[in-house]
Amino acid sequence: MQQYSTHTPHTINSIDISEIYNDMNINEYFSTRRTIRKYDSSRPVSLEMLNEMLDQAAHAANTGNMQTYSVIVTAKPDAIAALAPAHFNQPAIKNAAAVLTFCIDFNRFNRWCRLNNAEPGLNNMQGFTWGVIDTSIFAQQFCTIAEMNGLGTCYLGTTTYNAEQIAEALKLPSDVVPVITVTVGYPDETPDIQERLPIKAIVHEEEYCNPTDKELLDFYSEKDNLPSSRQFIKENGKENLAQVFAEVRYPRSSNEQFSRVYREFLKNQGIPL
Ligand SMILES: Cc1cc2nc3c(=O)[nH]c(=O)nc-3n(C[C@H](O)[C@H](O)[C@H](O)COP(=O)(O)O)c2cc1C
Repeated sequence: MQQYSTHTPHTINSIDISEIYNDMNINEYFSTRRTIRKYDSSRPVSLEMLNEMLDQAAHAANTGNMQTYSVIVTAKPDAIAALAPAHFNQPAIKNAAAVLTFCIDFNRFNRWCRLNNAEPGLNNMQGFTWGVIDTSIFAQQFCTIAEMNGLGTCYLGTTTYNAEQIAEALKLPSDVVPVITVTVGYPDETPDIQERLPIKAIVHEEEYCNPTDKELLDFYSEKDNLPSSRQFIKENGKENLAQVFAEVRYPRSSNEQFSRVYREFLKNQGIPL
């Protein structure tokens, strides 16, 4: 996988951003990136490098610049192994150089407010929504930077399924909740680039344009007919891809069950929704 320079500028104010972007061959990066789930265990990633990339990622936009997030970096193999069951031992956690748990962190902000004789008001649906948005943007900014430096990353959405277990392992205090996990390491695979819906399916000019049934089915037809999709449908004993997504991968019953579990956990952490 190609490596891209992220150029640490010495004088940030005088740097010409377009020059940096040109050097990166940015189009090539964005159209060829893919999730990596298998890492080269012989190539560690130093904590210095991770910290540098996280420092850059923290320049991402965030609500009011309050930065109500934290990331727990797990790099010791024993500690990674201890987290694995909470992520259902997904392949991407094995051999990862580090596992990064991105959390909403109201603890730091709330304490800062109270130390300054101010009563914070983020522990509610609005604050939680901002927290999820800002934490996710921070995580994605990190992934982009890591990938541009030749690393592979994989998100683990299982974070919200077993948030309590993860919070216990990482000793998260009240007002801190895990939102998303990213595994990172040097790639030991080059998986196929995953297809995306045609751009006209997701971009609407000036106002929302509700497609006809035929247009809508056309948007998905390439995805529906990929050999990998056909195989997936067969393996799951279903008639089509929509049934696999709606009834096998993300069924209502399990989504509702994990919603209940996460909401209860959030309440216990001080964020009643
Ligand atoms: C919020 C989120 C959760 C995800 N959870 C998982 C996961 O638990 N396990 C996994 O292997 N990939 C996970 N992924 C990666 C997606 O499966 C992947 O991005 C998608 O299939 C598109 O593939 P690509 O990234 O290679 O283009 C997740 C991605 C996101 C954004």
